[in-house]
Amino acid sequence: MMHVLRPTRPRPLHDTFSRKPAMPAPHEHSDQFVHRHLGPSHEDVQVMLDALGVGSIDELIDATVPTSIRLGRPLNTPAAASEHELLVELQAIAAKNRVWRSYIGMGYHDCITPPVILRNILENPAWYTAYTPYQAEISQGRLEALLTYQTMLIELTGLEVANASLLDEATAAAEAMAMLFAIAEHDRSRAFFVSETCHPQTIEVIRTRAEPLGVEVVVGDHRGIDWNRPWFGAIVQYPATDGAIYDYRSFCEQSHSHGALVVAATDLLSLAVLTPPGEWGADVAIGSAQRFGVPLGYGGPHAAFFATCNEYVRRMPGRIIGVSRDAHGNPALRMTLQTREQHIRREKATSNICTAQVLLAVIAGMYAVYHGPRGIRAIAERVHGLTSQLARGLRQLSVAVRHDEFFDTLCVNATPPEIDAWTTGAAARQINFRRIDAGTLSIALDETTQPEDVSDILAVFTDEPPGRPQDRAATGPHRTQHSAPSTQYSVLDTSSFRRTSPYLTHPVFHRYHSETEMLRYIKSLENRDFSLVHGMIPLGSCTMKLNATTEMIPVTWPQFGRIHPFAPIEQAAGYREIIDDLERWLAEVTGLPGVSLQPNAGSQGEYAGLLVIRRYHAGRGQGHRDVCLIPASAHGTNPASAVMAGCRVVVVACDDNGNIDVADLEAKARQHASDLAALMVTYPSTYGVFEEDIRHICEIVHAHGGQVYMDGANMNAQVGLCRPGDFGADVVHLNLHKTFCIPHGGGGPGMGPIAVAAHLADLLPTHPVVATGGRGGIGAVSAAPWGSASILLISWAYIKLMGPGGLAAATKIAILSANYIARRLNDHYPVLYRGRQGWVGHECILDTRPLKKSAGIEVEDIAKRLMDYGFHAPTISFPVPGAMMVEPTESESKAELDRFCDAMIAIRGEIKEIEDGRTMKDNNLLKNAPHTAFAVCASQWLHPYSRERAGFPTEATRRAKFWPSVGRIDNAYGDRNIMCSCPTPEE
Ligand SMILES: Cc1ncc(COP(=O)(O)O)c(C=O)c1O
Repeated sequence: MMHVLRPTRPRPLHDTFSRKPAMPAPHEHSDQFVHRHLGPSHEDVQVMLDALGVGSIDELIDATVPTSIRLGRPLNTPAAASEHELLVELQAIAAKNRVWRSYIGMGYHDCITPPVILRNILENPAWYTAYTPYQAEISQGRLEALLTYQTMLIELTGLEVANASLLDEATAAAEAMAMLFAIAEHDRSRAFFVSETCHPQTIEVIRTRAEPLGVEVVVGDHRGIDWNRPWFGAIVQYPATDGAIYDYRSFCEQSHSHGALVVAATDLLSLAVLTPPGEWGADVAIGSAQRFGVPLGYGGPHAAFFATCNEYVRRMPGRIIGVSRDAHGNPALRMTLQTREQHIRREKATSNICTAQVLLAVIAGMYAVYHGPRGIRAIAERVHGLTSQLARGLRQLSVAVRHDEFFDTLCVNATPPEIDAWTTGAAARQINFRRIDAGTLSIALDETTQPEDVSDILAVFTDEPPGRPQDRAATGPHRTQHSAPSTQYSVLDTSSFRRTSPYLTHPVFHRYHSETEMLRYIKSLENRDFSLVHGMIPLGSCTMKLNATTEMIPVTWPQFGRIHPFAPIEQAAGYREIIDDLERWLAEVTGLPGVSLQPNAGSQGEYAGLLVIRRYHAGRGQGHRDVCLIPASAHGTNPASAVMAGCRVVVVACDDNGNIDVADLEAKARQHASDLAALMVTYPSTYGVFEEDIRHICEIVHAHGGQVYMDGANMNAQVGLCRPGDFGADVVHLNLHKTFCIPHGGGGPGMGPIAVAAHLADLLPTHPVVATGGRGGIGAVSAAPWGSASILLISWAYIKLMGPGGLAAATKIAILSANYIARRLNDHYPVLYRGRQGWVGHECILDTRPLKKSAGIEVEDIAKRLMDYGFHAPTISFPVPGAMMVEPTESESKAELDRFCDAMIAIRGEIKEIEDGRTMKDNNLLKNAPHTAFAVCASQWLHPYSRERAGFPTEATRRAKFWPSVGRIDNAYGDRNIMCSCPTPEE
C-alpha cells in the first residue's frame, strides 16, 4: 500500500527528552505510558549522563547519530494516548469487526483454546517474553514443549522427524519444494508438480518462491500427471482444498519410481481419523497447526509444521529440537544441528528461517497434551460426524455434494444463481461459505461447530428465514465445551482411508488431562525458562524490550481472534483501520511510502524486499542484475535470503572499526556495475556503529545501478531520529518483534513488514484470495494477506501509546543505556567498535577473545556463568566470533543495568583468579557453569571453590534465585546422536 507522506503538523505534546528539559518534570509523569515503557527514571538519566561526562542526552545523541542524516523534526504519528484511553479506543475498533461463523476452511479453522492454555501460556508473559532458546540451559521448559510438538507431529503424520516450526502452511510448502530441489541437486529436472487441489495461497507462494530458484511449477490434476517428463518432486493436498480425500498411494509409487519425492500438505486434525501421509508414501508432510488451539487472528500468528524421513534431517528447513546430555550425563534439550542454520552457513544455509512461531507451536503441542489421543480423536470424529450429518441433510434436499469421502469440508455444485442465493442466505445468518467458483461453494466445519449450526446451514438451503443472527463474539472468547460427539453418520467408518495406527502414544499425551495436572505441568515447564519476567535479556541485535500488558491485552479479544483471514473484507473493518494506520505510521517512521505487512518475520521481509528489487530491475529490462553486495558483518539471514531471491552474493569487507570498507564497496560495485542488483546493509551496522558514510555508501550503489536494501533489525537506534528513506535506502524491513514490541514468544511469532520507496510501491506482495499489494506485485510471500495480523495490534498500540516524543525518547534512552554499559564495562572487557566520536549506538560489542589466551576462558563460559548470577547472556559470537554483543534497550532500569554490569565485573574478577593461577584452569567457576541446584547440593563436591560462590554469587541471588535446570549442555553429543522426539521413560 502506498502512503503519501504529509508534511508534519506541529505537535502539541512536547518532545519527551527534547533539548530542554532533558526529561519531563516528575509531575508530568502521572499517566504517560512513556514512563512505564522507559526503564531509567528522570534522575537515573542524569546520573548516567554524568557517568558519561555529557551534559544532556541530546549532546550524546548529536555525537552519536551523524548530523547529516538527522530527521530534525518529530515524527508525524499520533499524540500519545494513555493506556486506558487506548484500550477504550481499541474496544471501539474491535467492535467494527464482525465475527461471523466462517466455514471457509482453506487451512484456517475456528477452534477452542483450552482456557488453561489461553491464560497460562498465550496470555502469560513468562511464556511470551522469552527469546529463542540460544541459552538452552535456561530454556528447558519451552524446549520440552517444542519436543512434545515435534513428537505430536511425528506420530500424527506417520513420518520420522519434524521441526519446530515454520511460519505458515504456504511457506512450509515452498520450503518443502526448495528442500526437494536441493536433494535432487537439479541434475535431472527443474520441474515441480503442484496439485490444483492445493489451497490457492499455497500454490501462489510456491510460484513466488520457484521463480528465482529457476524451478518450473506445473499446476494440474494429479490423476493426469504426465510421467513421461521428469519431475524432481510433487505436492498434493490431503484432504484437498475442496474437501475431497484422494488415495495417493499409487501416485507416490509412480512418483518414486520416476525418482521424484512427494510432499503432502495436510490437515493435522484429520490425521486423527485418516491414514497418515507417512503410511501412504509421502516423503514430507507440511501444514498448519493452527486448529490445535490457536485463534484465527485474521491470518496469524500460527505455527506451520514440517515432517519428513530421517534421511533428510540435515536438509530440513527451520529449527529442530533434539535431546543431548549435560555435564552430569543427564538428558538435556537444545536446538540440534545448528550448523545447518543460516547464521553459520549463510548463503549455503538450508533456508533463511530464523524467528519462527515458537509460542504457537508450544500451544499446539499443549493442546495435544491436554486432550490426549482420545480427546483429539473425539474432536476429529465429532467434526467429521457433523460434516457427515450436513452432507446427508444436503443430499436429502437434493443439493449436489461433490465428494463421497471427506473429513470436514463439503463441496457443493449448483448453478451460479443458486450459489448466489445460498451465499446471500448464508450472509443473512452471518455465515461465510467459501465460493470456489461461480458454480461451486464449500463448507468447512470445525471444532466450534454445534448441531444447531448444522441446522442453520441446512436452513440456508431450504430458504428458511433466518432467526436473529447472533454475533459470534458475544459467545465469549473461545468456546470451552464441545457438545456431545455426533459420529453416527461418519462416512469414514468403512472407508479405506480410516486410520488404524495408534498416535500420541508417548506418556506426555496421557498424563495431564485434569486441569490441575495440566496447570502444574505448564507451570513446571515455565519455571525452567528464563524470560523478561526474571531479568534483562541483553541480546545484541534482538532488542528485548518491554512487551507491555496493555499492548498484549487486545490480541486475545474474540473480535480480533476469531476472524478468518479470507472473511469478506467488510467484516474486518476494525482490522482494516489498524492495518491502514500502521502502514501509514511505518511509512512515516522509515521515510519510505510503500508498506507491505505481509512478511511474517525479518527473514521473510528480506526475501520479499529483494524480490521487489529483482522485479524492479526486470521491469526495466535489466533482469540480469543479480549481484547482491553484503558486508562481512551481516546477519546470516541476509545472504541466505539473497540466494533464495536468486542473487549471487558478493561479500564486502569491513574496516577495523566495523564500518563498511568504502573503498572495497566502491571497487566491488564498479566491478559488478553491469549486474549489480543491490547492497544489503544493516544500519546502524551489526557492530552497533552509525557509519558516517552511509549516504555516500547508498550513492555508490545507486551510481552503479543497484538498489539499497536496508536490514532494519536495528531500527531501535533510529526511530524518531533518522529515517532510512531520507538517506538512501530503497527498501527496509522492520522487525516488529524487536523495535515495535511484539514479544519474541521464545522464538516467534514475529512480523517483518517492508517499506519501499515510491518507485517500488507497485511491486509490493499481492495475494491470490484477498486483494492487496502493488499492481505489478511480486506475488504472495505468506499464506495470509497481512501476515500475522492479530499481532499488528501490539505495534499499533506501542506507537499510539508512545506518541512521537515517546518514540524518539525510547531511541535516545536505548543509545544512552548502551553507552552507559560500554562505559562501565570497558575497563573489564574492552569495547570493540565505536563511532567517530567515540560512542556506540544502541548496542556494544565486548571483546572477550583475549581471555582465551590469558585464562583459557571462552565467551561461552562467561555466558554460562552469567546464568549463575541470574542473567541471560548477551549475544555471543555474532557478529564477532568469540566476542559478546550487549543490547540493553530503553526498557531496562539503571538498577538492572548496574546489576548486569556488576555481574560482568564480578565474573571478570573470577577470570582474574585463573589468570593469576589462584584457581585451576579446567575446574573453576566458569568452566563448570551453570551450576544447578542439584549440583550445588550434591553430596560430592570436587571443586576448588565453595558451593556458596557457585550458586549464590551475589546478595540478590540469595534472595531470589533462578536455577538453571540442567548443567552445561554437550552440543556435539546431540548432533552425533540425533534424537528429535520425546524420549520414552526408559530412555
Ligand atoms: C540483523 C538481523 N537481521 C535479520 C534478522 C532476522 O529476523 P527474523 O529472526 O525475524 O527472521 C535478525 C534476527 O535476529 C537480525 O538480528
